[in-house]
Amino acid sequence: MKNIVITGGAGFIGSHVVRLFVNKYPEYNIINLDKLTYAGNLANLKDIENKPNYKFVKMDICDFEAFYQLMQDEKIDGIIHLAAESHVDRSIKDPFTFARTNVMGTLSLLQAAKLYWESLPEKYEGKRFYHISTDEVYGALEMTHPEGVEPPFTTTASSTEHHLAYGTEFFYETTKYNPHSPYSAAKASSDHFVRAYHDTYGMPTIVTNCSNNYGPYQFPEKLIPLFINNIRHRKPLPVYGKGENVRDWLYVEDHARAIDIIFHNGKIAETYNIGGFNEWKNIDLIKVMIKTVDRLLGNPEGSSEELITYVTDRAGHDLRYAIDSTKLQKELGWEPSLQFEEGIEKTVRWYLDNQEWMDNITSGEYEKYYEEMYKGR
Ligand code: NAD
Ligand code: DAU
Repeated sequence: MKNIVITGGAGFIGSHVVRLFVNKYPEYNIINLDKLTYAGNLANLKDIENKPNYKFVKMDICDFEAFYQLMQDEKIDGIIHLAAESHVDRSIKDPFTFARTNVMGTLSLLQAAKLYWESLPEKYEGKRFYHISTDEVYGALEMTHPEGVEPPFTTTASSTEHHLAYGTEFFYETTKYNPHSPYSAAKASSDHFVRAYHDTYGMPTIVTNCSNNYGPYQFPEKLIPLFINNIRHRKPLPVYGKGENVRDWLYVEDHARAIDIIFHNGKIAETYNIGGFNEWKNIDLIKVMIKTVDRLLGNPEGSSEELITYVTDRAGHDLRYAIDSTKLQKELGWEPSLQFEEGIEKTVRWYLDNQEWMDNITSGEYEKYYEEMYKGR
């Protein structure tokens, strides 16, 4: 494979994937295709924008004609598809946009790729359509625990030694889909379309479902960058419900490494779960963040806990996510490279050192949106 389109490359995870591929594979032509919605930011890629193997194309993934033309002009062999509407709270307010981009956009890419690849003498030989999805499609897990054992407890379910879990069940590649939010319903639907294109037309597809990512360049509507920025500005930290929900956190560069390994070595038509075996209750994670930010800003450690404000819960808020990524670890040899404490320290330092990046996003229009979002909560 030589000519590769990465969709959503100006977003959070996409920018890390683009950077990795551009730097690691000078022999590939990497095309970053992105509509530059509110979440797309070319400042995420300043360090590689002038590399000879990199090109940016501003395009909507729903624009079938334009994408079909691009496939032909650039002789595309591989597609790594990350473009999506990605924020659950926005999906609750505006589900149509999520169905349009996540479902129709994905279908549009699939159909254009099909028409182009089927027109070639070699057809699907050496081609790949890799769809990036989420653990949220599996629904939510319970906080069950063995009798007499208080969570979090050590589990042997994972191949990682220090895995602390909040429940005895995990998401496996075989877990039945059960999405609850308009975001996850749209992602689930797109996953089904991708698999249908393999089963019906023989398209060489792969799907991966990953847990919550954190790290540099994440849009500050998401928990970790939002709270780091609010602590810096002494603004309230809006904790949904009681802060009891559990998420499974993975450092974004570890996700990008997994995508690289799976794109090159993953088996066609397979699904791989990606996750760090790293479950945290929101409130505990928030306290770790507060301690770290306070220490790095020279505030008395933990003093920003006074900013914690419990607000109305997210509608349909999934209780617990926990990915089992044993298949990926065993079959393709990937494993997370960072312990969470190290990752969160790196992340907090990055946001504090890159305040200009943050301020460029949070000033102006976005400020109005943020005020609106939290009004009445
Ligand atoms: P993001 O919101 O930061 O970035 C999304 C990117 O897609 C933006 O650059 C945006 O401009 C682009 N985009 C949106 N609509 C588009 C359209 N119609 N045409 C072209 N480009 C468009 O998202 P993210 O957090 O980086 O997530 C990337 C992908 O990974 C998504 O598919 C998401 O479902 C999946 N995912 C995210 C996480 C996570 O924790 N963030 C975890 C698992 C899976
Ligand atoms: O699990 C993977 C998913 O992780 C991805 O598919 C999504 O694209 C990504 O946005 C993320 O979804 P979450 O809803 O889990 O992430 P978010 O950062 O929005 O919220 C994390 C947890 O924190 C969740 O339980 C809700 C809570 N939260 C969030 C915000 C923004 C708060 O308590 N307060 C907040 O202000």
